[in-house]
Amino acid sequence: MCGIIGYLGTREAAPVLMDGLRRLEYRGYDSAGVAVVSPGAEVASVVKCAARVEQLIEQLRTDMPAGSLGVGHTRWATHGKPTVLNAHPHTDCGRRITVVHNGIIENFRELREELEGAGHEFLSDTDTEVVPHLIEHHYRGDFVAATRHALGRLRGAYALVMFSLDEPELLVGARLNAPLVVGLGEGEYFIASDIAAIVAYTKKVLVLGEGEMVVVTSLGPVVTSLDGIPVEPRVLHVDWDVSQAERSGYPHFMLKEIHETPEAAANALRGRLDRQGHVEFTEFEMDDERLRSLEEVRLLGMGTSLHAALAGEHVIEDWAGLAARAQDSSEFRYRRPVLGGNALVVAITQSGETADTIVALRAARATGALGVAVTNVVGSTAARDADGAIYLQAGPEIGVASTKTFVAHLVSLYLLALRLATARRRMSPERCEELAAELRSLPDAVRHLLAGEPEIARLAHRYAGYRNFMYVGRGLAYPVALEGALKLKEISYVHAEGTSGGELKHGPIALLDAEFPVVAVCTASPVREKTVGNVHEVVARGAPVLAVVSEGDRSLEGVASDLLEIPRTGEAASAVLASVALQLFAYHLAVELGRDVDRPRNLAKSVTVE
Ligand code: G6P
Repeated sequence: MCGIIGYLGTREAAPVLMDGLRRLEYRGYDSAGVAVVSPGAEVASVVKCAARVEQLIEQLRTDMPAGSLGVGHTRWATHGKPTVLNAHPHTDCGRRITVVHNGIIENFRELREELEGAGHEFLSDTDTEVVPHLIEHHYRGDFVAATRHALGRLRGAYALVMFSLDEPELLVGARLNAPLVVGLGEGEYFIASDIAAIVAYTKKVLVLGEGEMVVVTSLGPVVTSLDGIPVEPRVLHVDWDVSQAERSGYPHFMLKEIHETPEAAANALRGRLDRQGHVEFTEFEMDDERLRSLEEVRLLGMGTSLHAALAGEHVIEDWAGLAARAQDSSEFRYRRPVLGGNALVVAITQSGETADTIVALRAARATGALGVAVTNVVGSTAARDADGAIYLQAGPEIGVASTKTFVAHLVSLYLLALRLATARRRMSPERCEELAAELRSLPDAVRHLLAGEPEIARLAHRYAGYRNFMYVGRGLAYPVALEGALKLKEISYVHAEGTSGGELKHGPIALLDAEFPVVAVCTASPVREKTVGNVHEVVARGAPVLAVVSEGDRSLEGVASDLLEIPRTGEAASAVLASVALQLFAYHLAVELGRDVDRPRNLAKSVTVE
């Protein structure tokens, strides 16, 4: 997956593209490039580099291409190594058609063979390069018609932005299984992979739908289906500010976003939960009758979202008495899912664009299941593909490792479980009230926890010398342990694994010794005592233990090597607080090791390819 941007307007395009690429870098950062054209120019100025956007910007500073039409790209390689030749933009043989692409053209090999047979010469190893050549191949004096023709032959996933020197008054975008938005300014237009890239210039955004194409001229955008049927554009007003997508003085986005957790939790609850524990979702309103008829809930996600799914599975079964199962979307999509009209499928995806989760959601809905997307991005593919959406309302998350949105996912899934529990009359009014109070107190409890950050940083410093970690938890603390381990490995490159306390004895314990510490999540839970038992087991085997405990809990003093205290609360809120504590622990440990926290190697924020 990559980040793409295009500009057509009255100002110089290059600075706009540079700015947009900087904000899109979280999508991939192994090479970057821009192409800019000025009116009447015979060639486009193309600048590329096999490095991060920062270096491209350095190159551009010394040799800024002039022109008010252009495209830019930051790449996360799929086909072809991260070299200058493989960096986008790509062009046709005549260097008249310029294309940037996010996605994978699955049939590029056969297309390339065909085009090479017809005399086209390719310069790169990318799948993308077939696109400009294919357009060139179909070009009969009408760029839009040729593009439409070419798109009809592509299989796979693409968000494309392109222009032709023969019709430099046009900027064309198209999408299939990859996101693309169009920013509508005053006499200027932007096309980008996401809103954060363009929100500094305009808050009026047109979200291009699946299988749609946009042709932008100085008069504005015209949206059609890929085969040319006019489509009513969906225009949104963005209600967040560019400063929300900047670091505001924090050394890293990740730290800034962890500190935004109290607001993220409050926003996920906002207007949805009353004191009695009644839950209302505006974009996913199902009557009690329908919710009562459900027989099963399937939660689908990847990465951090899969861990949120596991927490959702736990509370839906526990609170609502409804069979629930969390599944890795990439595995689910290649099974023949046994679901039906009485199943609810919950797609958990921060971006709303994770390819595996989207395909899995579609496959689940094809069986007749009801689908809801729990996502941070309004108008994202998952939100549009589902029957309803529960928006996280957490604001943009730029750090590649999910933090505040994991919390917003947990809170949203708690609300969903509570909604199901009340509709199905599985929870007493007293318990509902108690849970509502626990959740409503979360933003303050997180603030309280964040005030203890220096102590967590001190612990991270103490543990930074170890090369392996085992995270252990039970019940709701099990997904917390998995997520704690994922956070650490993602950003510090230190090996970490998560296990349930019960599973520990069935293998993982063999790894433990004085050089292999255990992070044990021993916070409030009906099975807390069992995890305490695990701590004793591993201490007996010489492993150092960092125990996450509720404030004032001294039961592991003198047993665990260190205690990390979180505010004392119920099990559901404790899972959130322990997660935030472990995010901070991973963050400080990674910083201690000098890692590039916001842009960890080999990872990308949004995986829009399989
Ligand atoms: C990538 C990111 C993870 C994220 C996962 C799922 O792997 O690096 O942080 O959890 O995708 O993303 P989603 O947008 O679907 O939640």
